[in-house]
Amino acid sequence: MQGQIEVEIADLKLRNPTILASGILGTSADYLTEIARAGAGAVTTKSVGLEPREGYKNPTVIQVECGILNAVGLPNPGIRKFAKEIEELHSLEIPLIVSVYGFSPKEYAEVAMMAVEAGADAIELNLSCPHIKGSGAEIGRSPKMIGLVVEKVKESVNRPIFAKLTPNVTDIKEIAMAAASSGADAITAINTVRAMAIDIETCRPILANKIGGLSGGAIKPIAVRCVYEIYEAVDIPIIGCGGVRTWRDAVELILAGASAVQIGSAIAYEGLPVFKAIAEGIRTYLYRKGFGSVKEIVGLAHEA
Ligand SMILES: Cc1cc2nc3c(=O)[nH]c(=O)nc-3n(C[C@H](O)[C@H](O)[C@H](O)COP(=O)(O)O)c2cc1C
Repeated sequence: MQGQIEVEIADLKLRNPTILASGILGTSADYLTEIARAGAGAVTTKSVGLEPREGYKNPTVIQVECGILNAVGLPNPGIRKFAKEIEELHSLEIPLIVSVYGFSPKEYAEVAMMAVEAGADAIELNLSCPHIKGSGAEIGRSPKMIGLVVEKVKESVNRPIFAKLTPNVTDIKEIAMAAASSGADAITAINTVRAMAIDIETCRPILANKIGGLSGGAIKPIAVRCVYEIYEAVDIPIIGCGGVRTWRDAVELILAGASAVQIGSAIAYEGLPVFKAIAEGIRTYLYRKGFGSVKEIVGLAHEA
């Protein structure tokens, strides 16, 4: 049969390759349920840490020419409270990926353990937030630190672990290899690209945090390059992320080497129908090109 859009990442079975990206609407059981109903293949929660965080002062999110610039500062209620939201999701019909961050390998592992106990099907390690001191990309820029975090989480939980990488490094292959050799079950690439905007009337940076992360259409070619490079460096599945708004964007990332794609900023422009539209677009593409499944086109752009 042609045009199968089901995919598998580690031991997760997805009805289609679209996944909600972390940080966009994934803050409550209600939102996550609504996104599942809208047709996503899996959902990722907002990143959660051990203790509650307020996040930065406004402005935290602004629209720029071809994307969204944010420095929200990882506001979250802390894993103990968030676990109650996760527990409400037991009847979710699609895999639930819980995104976690910490300030040490031990803290990442503690949060991951509580998330799994509450019902997470997989853990995504936020090793890539571009604007948090002592966590996120500050850890994810070092192959050694990535290795320590992945190893510690891997020995602490029995669910698949996805390492979400930052593009703000010289060599993303080296970082991906460190994650894979330490036991990551998949790589998510990419988080936002460090960026800023200045208000020319007030002559000051617009974001309260001054520097933030750029997402949306502007970063898609960066995501395609990162996925392409990572595919050549590791043997574990890749979840592509960055600027996916249409099925064409999704197919491009899959051809570069992604087994599934995450969607974040596009929800602001397209709303929740974006999941079904992309999944059906991929199915039609596979059918038109005579491919039997998504698997057949993963990394096809690498063939000579
Ligand atoms: C407002 C906002 C908040 C985000 N929060 C998180 C977060 O908590 N954890 C994380 O790993 N990524 C976070 N991200 C990054 C997205 O998950 C994604 O990697 C990035 O936006 C690129 O995908 P996109 O172009 O489809 O938005 C956030 C992005 C935005 C725009």
